[in-house]
Amino acid sequence: MLNIDRLHDVSFLSDPHYKVYLKGKENIGWDRGLDWSLARNDRVPEGLHSFAIEVASMSAHVEVLGMQNAAELLAECSNFALKLGLGQAVNDEARHAELFAKYALLAGGDIRDCSKTQEVYDQHFGELRSFDEVFLSHVYLENGALEQFNVFISTFGEHSLIGQIYKGTLQDEARHVQMGVQYFKNKMTEDVSYADFVADHLADYREILHMNDNAVRWYSELSGLEESVIRQRIEQRHDSFIAKILGVG
Ligand SMILES: [Fe+2]
Ligand SMILES: [Fe+2]
Repeated sequence: MLNIDRLHDVSFLSDPHYKVYLKGKENIGWDRGLDWSLARNDRVPEGLHSFAIEVASMSAHVEVLGMQNAAELLAECSNFALKLGLGQAVNDEARHAELFAKYALLAGGDIRDCSKTQEVYDQHFGELRSFDEVFLSHVYLENGALEQFNVFISTFGEHSLIGQIYKGTLQDEARHVQMGVQYFKNKMTEDVSYADFVADHLADYREILHMNDNAVRWYSELSGLEESVIRQRIEQRHDSFIAKILGVG
């Protein structure tokens, strides 16, 4: 089961998905330089050690889900270059899950139980039926994660181990978002009414896909940023995601 249009007919060297895949190959070993000896007493601001473990644990749970979603998309995908990109994404997500789980273990001794959060996402993705629905939810969450990761990097500091992990992960996720935006932008040029599918999906699953008030409050407390600033950043990222897909951003 390759699920690819006849491979000997495939032409992919000028496919935009292939260019994004090549970009990912250049940076494939970014985690090799991480200094794990910092984990026991990471260079995070005073009082944030436990928070760092909690956040890493949460990220480990979500990254496992991201890995599985990317694998599901990979199995269904019929575009060769996109399939390569999704294969790379599965590997990226595996690394993210590994690094966050490893951090939680080395820094605190255990990975905190975040199964409730994971169940909410599991249930959501379990209800989605089409490739496009899964891909849109997946990439939209990744786009939102970029903003959350920025908050974590500035809160924990770029020189902390956890900050470094989020920084490397952020670069991978930005590439995944680029891959998804390319896919949906292309869909839009083939059929302008496709914009309705995107708008409806993001509205129907707003509760799951958008950051809720509790999460905004939590990020605000963690980072010291006003809740209104967090909300504004999230909205901006949402608007720019939609604008890129529509080809106006
Ligand atoms: Fe990831
Ligand atoms: Fe990702």
